[in-house]
Amino acid sequence: MLLLLTLLLVLDLINNATGEEEEEEEKEQHVRVFSLQDDLWAVPANDVYLRYNFSKTAEPVNQLTACYFIRIASFVTTNLHLSYGSSDQKPNALAFFNRGEYIRSWFNNEPQTKAQERHWRGFPGVWHHLCHVFYGRTYTIYWQGQEFFRGELETEWPFETNGTLIIGQEQDSLSGGFDSTQILRGDISQIDLWGRRLSGREVARMAQCLSSPSGDIFSSSSAKFEVFGDIKETRVPLEQLCSHQPRYTVFPEERTFSASTKLCRLFNASQAVPTSGTENQILHQEIQPYFNICVPTASWKIWIGVTDVLKDGEWLNDHTQERVTYLNFSTLYPVSSSLTNCAEMMVNGYWTVDMCEVKRCTVCHTEVADFLFLRGLCFHTEHQTRFRLSGYANGRPLFRGYYDYAILWDDTEGRWLLRNTISNSTVASTKVNDLAEYPQGRRQWQVEQALCGSVPEDILSLSFSSCSPHLFMCRSGECISADRRCNLRYECKDGSDEDECHVVVLEGGYRRHLAPTGPGGSSLSVVPSVTLTRVASVDEINQAVTLEFEVSLTWKDDRLNFKHLGVSEKGAVLSATDIEKVWLPKYQMSNLEGGRLKRLLQTVVVRSANNASLSEYNSVDRDIQYPGSQNEMTITEHYTATFTCSFELYSYPFDTQTCSIDLTFPPDYEGYVKFSIDEGNIRYSGKKTLSLFVVRDLRFSPDSGGSVLKAEFNMNRRQGVILLTTFLPSVMLLSISWATLFVKMEALNVRAIMSLTTLLVLYTLFANLSNSLPKTAEIKLIDIWFFFIIFLLFCNIIVHIIADRVGWKLKSPGGAKTKPTTATAWNTKPAGAVEQTPAPCRKPVSSERILFIQRYIIVPSVFIVFNVLFWWQVFAN
Ligand SMILES: *[C@@H]1O[C@H](CO)[C@@H](O)[C@H](O)[C@H]1NC(C)=O
Ligand SMILES: *[C@@H]1O[C@H](CO)[C@@H](O)[C@H](O)[C@H]1NC(C)=O
Ligand SMILES: *[C@@H]1O[C@H](CO)[C@@H](O)[C@H](O)[C@H]1NC(C)=O
Repeated sequence: MLLLLTLLLVLDLINNATGEEEEEEEKEQHVRVFSLQDDLWAVPANDVYLRYNFSKTAEPVNQLTACYFIRIASFVTTNLHLSYGSSDQKPNALAFFNRGEYIRSWFNNEPQTKAQERHWRGFPGVWHHLCHVFYGRTYTIYWQGQEFFRGELETEWPFETNGTLIIGQEQDSLSGGFDSTQILRGDISQIDLWGRRLSGREVARMAQCLSSPSGDIFSSSSAKFEVFGDIKETRVPLEQLCSHQPRYTVFPEERTFSASTKLCRLFNASQAVPTSGTENQILHQEIQPYFNICVPTASWKIWIGVTDVLKDGEWLNDHTQERVTYLNFSTLYPVSSSLTNCAEMMVNGYWTVDMCEVKRCTVCHTEVADFLFLRGLCFHTEHQTRFRLSGYANGRPLFRGYYDYAILWDDTEGRWLLRNTISNSTVASTKVNDLAEYPQGRRQWQVEQALCGSVPEDILSLSFSSCSPHLFMCRSGECISADRRCNLRYECKDGSDEDECHVVVLEGGYRRHLAPTGPGGSSLSVVPSVTLTRVASVDEINQAVTLEFEVSLTWKDDRLNFKHLGVSEKGAVLSATDIEKVWLPKYQMSNLEGGRLKRLLQTVVVRSANNASLSEYNSVDRDIQYPGSQNEMTITEHYTATFTCSFELYSYPFDTQTCSIDLTFPPDYEGYVKFSIDEGNIRYSGKKTLSLFVVRDLRFSPDSGGSVLKAEFNMNRRQGVILLTTFLPSVMLLSISWATLFVKMEALNVRAIMSLTTLLVLYTLFANLSNSLPKTAEIKLIDIWFFFIIFLLFCNIIVHIIADRVGWKLKSPGGAKTKPTTATAWNTKPAGAVEQTPAPCRKPVSSERILFIQRYIIVPSVFIVFNVLFWWQVFAN
């Protein structure tokens, strides 16, 4: 028993000792890295792979973890990470791969569909650590040590472990059925399989290169592979899989400091700023091949992106404007001076300072996630438009496409080439004016080989920039916010943000003369809006009104697309050239007086900016588009015109006139275009009260609709002045005439003249008024009024005469001494009137009495009765 215990103790000690030894070893542990078809110019092949056959007698497992490090050099359709077949029936017992930026996986021959829905930022040229854990009903993916996906396992257990593992190809049958579009182009390392579940902590430690446990089912660090094709195997320190090394790219032309900053920015990068001795060394190594090109005669070579412009001796990172902590200035030269504010690296790797205006070579520092877009070709996915700075060709940086293209410098002809890396043939090229130029921005490329429907010698306009889809690219390649585009200000230095600012985008087949259709092929609804701005004049004689007004018609044209909407609050105004391209509703005004119409202004505006959509990823033109079916166009026309308007004067001056503006669509719109009255609106923005009228009640008449639109309004006459100038004078004249009835009998002269004068004056008044009104055969109330007053005045005169006659007859039998014999009798004062003898017994109607009756009974009662009838008539209407 004691012996046994001692034995166990000893064993334990030995175990511990070996464990510690392993830990020691791990510190400078080297791992196997396999590189498959990672060369830029490699032609994707289906016969480059590693094979490993599991033992035929291996037992199935009910838990599984598979981990590996992978670095993608170039993308293919299916970037295979790992493939394992357990039998011919189950060639995809395990398959891990990515398509673009989506991870896909198969387990026991079933795709795990949920896992592939999440976007994966798998950039090329970086090590990714991936672990797939299958446990019970759960499938978990870890990426860089973090849980990336967790979901239900969409297959059954158990998992056979007696199959074949293939690195670099996807199996369609056991160890066969390879395809050159389903391969690995890149590096893979540390492939391990466990028959158990690894915890998140274990995975995280692996991903950070803190541990490298070997799989119990399989481990690439010890496995003996069968090697097919050209596969490079290297041993690298484990930390290298986790270290983040800066990526520097030398642009071997001399520039000022600010030009260097600008150049790096064009590539979504910043000037190199080493932050440690190691980074300084990497930068120093990177520039070594260019010592003879960059300032060959001097010892200073490249700019370092730090300046002390703001304060001497305080060095800031030019890109982030943060204080830098690592400096490596040479002690041989003075560092601080007010003239020398920019840092540069010398041939020996130390730094010194110089004036920022001198010229040095540029080194840009790019991040893993920095890439450029090549637009204008015909890629199948957005992922394929991406390029990154990677390596050099012919002495200058090379832009490596994520897939099969590269842009490289041709030093013999001084041009940039777009090359297909698989056929190794140039498909397009662009010449530079200045040898220091790079192919960024919008350029004309000459097609060298049939490409995207273009034939050799064609010119293609391509853009190459770092501008993400929601940014606008200036011609130079700079990016500006999309809402700065076409805002009538130059934001691009070359002004290209204000070029080609037309709003309307037509697709082929647009017929301008045909009206668009409404939703579902129904007739097009045009929403009217009428604004009457001024009633310029009312001509009653000619029965016409002159109006100033605006007609707005709003409709949607689903055949169109728009751009540059939403830049201003008021909407996008279409230019004259835009207006000429699109269908606009035409209409006539059918009640014009003598065709008098003048259009003062026409504008076409799109006010909304709905359903914005980014342009397709291949489109060079980055403008946001808006569908015509969601954004209404409004044409607003401002007119001054004279309309006929039939005046109804019966109850003048208590009349209300109704005038209208009648719009009609041309006959060929019948059944295709109609006014939508319900949604329309109408208003009057001018002064309500005119000199003679009050404007009110603007409305669309009930018989509008279809192809007719009647915008009606009422004009109520203002009676005040007319009452003063017609009724009041006529009543006054009547009163005067009435007053004559009170004058002494003897003063026939006075009575007659006065009443006659009132008649004449009244008649003149009436004639004047009649002239100011249209001559119509109809009788107006005002005419009746005047007839009545005239009639009364006339009666008064008659009464005066009769009264006089009667008085005269009464006198004669009484034996008056003087008897008027001449016609002047009316003018003569009846001399004997005073001493007139009393009337005879038979009491005849005296002239006084006639006047009395006229004065107190007839005139007032007739006047009152008439007035009652008259005003009843006026207000009843
Ligand atoms: C591995 O398996 C494949 C397919 O079953 C077979 O063709 C090949 O010969 C095996 N290799 C070895 C070394 O056994
Ligand atoms: C400064 O640069 C030189 C040359 O690359 C290098 O040898 C030295 O270690 C650097 N000094 C520091 C502190 O990094
Ligand atoms: C393809 O072209 C590049 C650049 O000219 C050259 O370096 C490379 O060797 C070529 N590759 C092949 C396979 O021809």
